[in-house]
Parts: sequence; structure tokens; C-alpha cells
Amino acid sequence: MPIAGIYGPDDFRKSAQRRPNAQARTPVSPAGRAAAWPMPQLEWTPEVERATAHLYERVKSVIPPVEWPLMAPTIKAINELKQERNAVILAHNYQTPEIFHCVADIGGDSLQLAIEATKVKSDIIVQCGVHFMAETSKILNPQKTVLIPDSRAGCSLASSIAGADVRLLRERFPGVPVVAYVNTSADVKAEVDICCTSSNAVQVVESLHAPTVIFLPDQYLAKYVASQTDVKIIAWKGACEVHERFTGEELRAYREADPSVQIIAHPECPPDVLAEADFTGSTAHMINWVRNKHPKRVVMITECSMADNVMAELPDVEIMRPCNLCPHMKRITLAKILDSLIYMREEVTIDPAIAEKARRSVERMINLKN
Ligand code: 13P
Ligand code: SF4
Repeated sequence: MPIAGIYGPDDFRKSAQRRPNAQARTPVSPAGRAAAWPMPQLEWTPEVERATAHLYERVKSVIPPVEWPLMAPTIKAINELKQERNAVILAHNYQTPEIFHCVADIGGDSLQLAIEATKVKSDIIVQCGVHFMAETSKILNPQKTVLIPDSRAGCSLASSIAGADVRLLRERFPGVPVVAYVNTSADVKAEVDICCTSSNAVQVVESLHAPTVIFLPDQYLAKYVASQTDVKIIAWKGACEVHERFTGEELRAYREADPSVQIIAHPECPPDVLAEADFTGSTAHMINWVRNKHPKRVVMITECSMADNVMAELPDVEIMRPCNLCPHMKRITLAKILDSLIYMREEVTIDPAIAEKARRSVERMINLKN
């Protein structure tokens, strides 16, 4: 059914302070500099070539041989340093192949990363993704050190809403439960009843057994959920700056060019895009769809690096990539991951009272049975 209403900051008299994407990276403090580990040698040598040859095998279909000598010394240094530091690297499906396939210990979508974060044994988590993902890891691991290589890696959805907005929505719709997409700050997670990801949004909404649910902040994911359930959905006016750029017209053009092409899309896309897709799902669901169906040719309507990661794994599938990059995800680079491990920065911190409340919303989602 169509969504029941859609709200944004302009609909409230008191405008709430939303979380801006961070403006500056935290500088290395003098104490941090003193405690830093020595900078490793970053030269391309026969030894580096030998030590990284097995990693190049994983990405050779997407990284040209001429680029490998520029990456391999940093990859080797990161892999050695993470052992010495007892750190684990979690990487989202949108990270570039040299990160996703060559330095990450665990890769996945937001739900998989949140679940994996609850199982981590290492002292340090380096989150290669955006800030809300690192916050989720910290929420679930208050005693561990969680680092993000660049804290400016924000998200247009997370910055569209603040905890105070949720309180205003609750005043406007008393008694209506609130579901927050994980693409929100800890401050928002602390105000809601339960979180969801694009993997489980419909299941989470239905688990509340309520006739109406407030679903925030992604208006398009809200519309997708509304199309899959009888629960009445009240939405927020947020959008993903990457997925909202796709159009139905673009997808029709792909199909006209090759009627046999398969098109798969992320539910953060607008409804006219999803209407043209053969399959809609989270990033992990999209990857599994390609693994299982093994289509000859597929268009992936999502962030571009994910297609590179799938191509590296399945070089015989022809993947067309409308190249929409997430500028926030792309702030994470090999050089910054190395810098993170050398200087132990940038550390993610959350007010313990907020983290405690946010943890309830995230754990309630994780503990939902299928
Ligand atoms: P997934 O949970 O599907 O990986 O999505 C996260 C995201 O930020 C998509 O833009
Ligand atoms: Fe946020 Fe969109 Fe980037 Fe995902 S792709 S992190 S939703 S801005």
C-alpha cells in the first residue's frame, strides 16, 4: 500500500539539530605520535611480490598488473600490523577490491557486519565503511577499541535526522512504534524501538504487530517496505544520495539494449527504479542472487565498487556497472587504514548512556528469529 505520510524537518516548529557529516579528521595528538608504531617500509620488492601473490590472484580480474606494485606494499604492511596489534578489519561490500579482498577479515552488508561485530575476539576493530557502521560496532562492543580510518565517512541518510527529530515524531504520533534503519547515528538509535537493515526491514516492521509503524529515515526503503506489507508506514524524508540518482528510464535503456539482461537493485532506489528491476535486495542479497543464478549478464543498481568485488569473485559473469560511487565509502583507502593501525586513530566514542539505549534497539533486531 502507499505510505501513510512522509515527514521531514520542515514539518516541525522546533527544528532539530541533525548530525552533520564530520568536517575534519581528528589530528594525531602528541601522545598518539609518541605511542605510534614505526612506519613500515613501503617499497615494491621481490619479497613483497612473493608475499602478496596469493592476494593478487583474488583481484587480478579487476586490478591491472601495473597498479598492483603501488598497492601491494601497503597491503602487506596492513596485514602484518593488524596481527601485531591484534586487530580485525570489517569491510562493507562497497569497499574497493584491494580493501575488500586483500586486507578485510570479514566483509558483508550492514546486517552481517553488525552480527559479526558481536563475535569479534580481537581487542581492536578497524571499520572500513561509514561512520554509522563503526558506531554500530562500538555500540555492540563498548569495551573494545573501534577505529574508523576517516571519521568524515558519513552518510546522507544518517545526517538527515537526529534523536530530537524522533522525539518530535513521537509527540506527533503517540504510541506508534519507531523503526530506524541502521543508517542512523547512535543518538537516533537510542530513541527508537528497534533497528533494521535492508536485509530484514519488512520482517522487523511486521515483528512489532502494530497497525502503523514510523519507519525512518529512508523514504525509498519505507516505500519499498510499504509495498511488501499491510502495515501502515509513516516515513521520513531522508534519501541515499547514491541510490536516489538512478532512474527507471536508465534501467529501461539497459533492457532495450539487451532484452536478456538481468537487473538487480538495492531497495534504497526510488520506486520507478525498483519497478523495472528483476530482483530487489540488500547488498548481501544481491551478491547471493548473482552467485546462485549465475546470469550471463547482469546490471547492478547500487554502489559501483560492489560490482568490482563480485567481478573479482565471479569473473565469468558480465556485470554492468552504472558507476555511482558513494563519496563517503570512498574516503576509506589503504593509506588511511595503515595510518589507523599505526596511530590507533580515529577512535569512535559514544556517550555510554546513549550507547546503552542504542544497544537495546540494535540487539532487539539481531535477536529477531527468522
Ligand atoms: P546494505 O545493508 O544493503 O549493505 O546497505 C548499506 C548501505 O549503506 C547501502 O547504501
Ligand atoms: Fe549512505 Fe548511500 Fe553511501 Fe550507503 S551508499 S553509505 S546509504 S550515502
